[in-house]
Amino acid sequence: MDAEDTLLMIPGPVKVAPRVLRAMSRPMISHRSAEFGKIYDDCRSLLQEFFQTQNEIVIMSGSGTCGMDAAVGGVIGKDGAILTISNGKFGDRFTEIGNRYGKAVPVSFDWGTPYDPERIEAAVFEGCRAVTMVHNETSVGMVNPAREIGKIARKSNSVFIVDGISSIGGNEFLTDEWGIDIAVTGSQKCLAVPPGLAIVSVSKKAESALVPNSGGFYTDLLAHLKSARKSPTQTPFTPAVPLFYALQEALHMAKEEGFDVRRARTTRLAESVRAAARALNIELFPVQSRYSQYSNTVTAMKIPQGITDDKLRGGMKKQGIVVSGGQEALKGKIFRIGTMGVCSEGDILRTIQTLELILTREGVIERPGAGVEAAGKVLLG
Ligand SMILES: Cc1ncc(COP(=O)(O)O)c(C=O)c1O
Repeated sequence: MDAEDTLLMIPGPVKVAPRVLRAMSRPMISHRSAEFGKIYDDCRSLLQEFFQTQNEIVIMSGSGTCGMDAAVGGVIGKDGAILTISNGKFGDRFTEIGNRYGKAVPVSFDWGTPYDPERIEAAVFEGCRAVTMVHNETSVGMVNPAREIGKIARKSNSVFIVDGISSIGGNEFLTDEWGIDIAVTGSQKCLAVPPGLAIVSVSKKAESALVPNSGGFYTDLLAHLKSARKSPTQTPFTPAVPLFYALQEALHMAKEEGFDVRRARTTRLAESVRAAARALNIELFPVQSRYSQYSNTVTAMKIPQGITDDKLRGGMKKQGIVVSGGQEALKGKIFRIGTMGVCSEGDILRTIQTLELILTREGVIERPGAGVEAAGKVLLG
């Protein structure tokens, strides 16, 4: 296979549309110019729609983790405490970040196991400056209940911080309706931009809770907010200008499709992957309850009996299709298919078809076809 002709079906970075790639090759401009300010302003207003929020938006040059870092560091400063809810890798990351600045009090569930809101409510403590959660836990392919946890955070008057990195734009994500004070996404997920931008929405409540000069220096949210309000709009430090070109183009592309239409399309694509998995007797990984949903942006499945991770993903890679494996303890146990951004129906069908061929060759299924048929039915509606 031609290494450049690869179909990227991982949960980010995702395929980038040619018009977005072309936008990145425009000549460099001064980041202190009115021209850059216009791009930043345009992105900020489209992102408010994308996040479904009236809150301020800041864009930082850094990956999604940079936004998580800015949120936690900014709210808890050097000695504050934070409640971190986790049922996967990225929930655990909030705990690590919290402990780097102040103190994280984790409420942990097994990876892929739904939250128990009662346990969370009982764990909220006096002086808890913020509650963090991951909406779409990419490591396990499940969506956690942000609306319910938002209510708990509000009762304790904590700042509610939600990692929406692999969620916003793909799953329903109602920043204002769910009372999310700080929401974070990354450019390489549902926006279908190359990696390198962290986008953060900040409510008035969160802004007034930010501890001046005590979080990170580069990630100081107050400095980013101040610059974003300048005229022309600026970033406090030199931004990754070509990524802003790409972001603006990708936002317009998503807007042309319709943000709701894209979300609905992403949902249908994920439903088709789940239908194919069921038809092939491949078990979906996350445990279902009233407090969890299957993700629409990443489907996590158990590696079927009779094949190894290496053979499954290695075989697909040889055919030019890249899917993800499990992380940490789930390595070798699950595999994950992403459905974000500009992923198409054809991309899904080719992925399922190739998976079926490999499973047939390895003797896991008798013949190919059932998965594509089931996926096709969902896509046809
Ligand atoms: C839910 C979630 N949170 C955080 C991250 C970390 O983002 P980044 O790798 O862009 O720093 C990821 C990346 O996959 C993610 O999916």
